Amino acid sequence: MTEAARTFALIIEPGGHFVAVRAGATLLEAALQAGLSLPRSCRNGTCRACMCRLVDGEIAYRVEWPGLTAEEKAEGWILPCVVLARSDVTIDQPEAREAMPDTRRMRSRGF
Ligand code: FES
Repeated sequence: MTEAARTFALIIEPGGHFVAVRAGATLLEAALQAGLSLPRSCRNGTCRACMCRLVDGEIAYRVEWPGLTAEEKAEGWILPCVVLARSDVTIDQPEAREAMPDTRRMRSRGF
């Protein structure tokens, strides 16, 4: 199996959330699929709404020019909406939240 085809672990601190990141999925996509809500807007690496710090791990970018300065990259800032995991990864995103369950479906049963 090539490294690009592997599933990696994403740990989101300080909450300690665990997410499996499948090949080709960004960190944001993997978190959303796992029921976690992270700050986001454009999802294409330009608005910086999702910006957070990489604590540990190897990453690659899906886009050639993510909206970060060289200094920000050197300081460990990343844009999870366009980041692909290349190893198990830990990020620091205090605003990660469990997504609210959709209660409308439960209420529509007529009980
Ligand atoms: S959501 Fe806009 S840069 Fe990530």
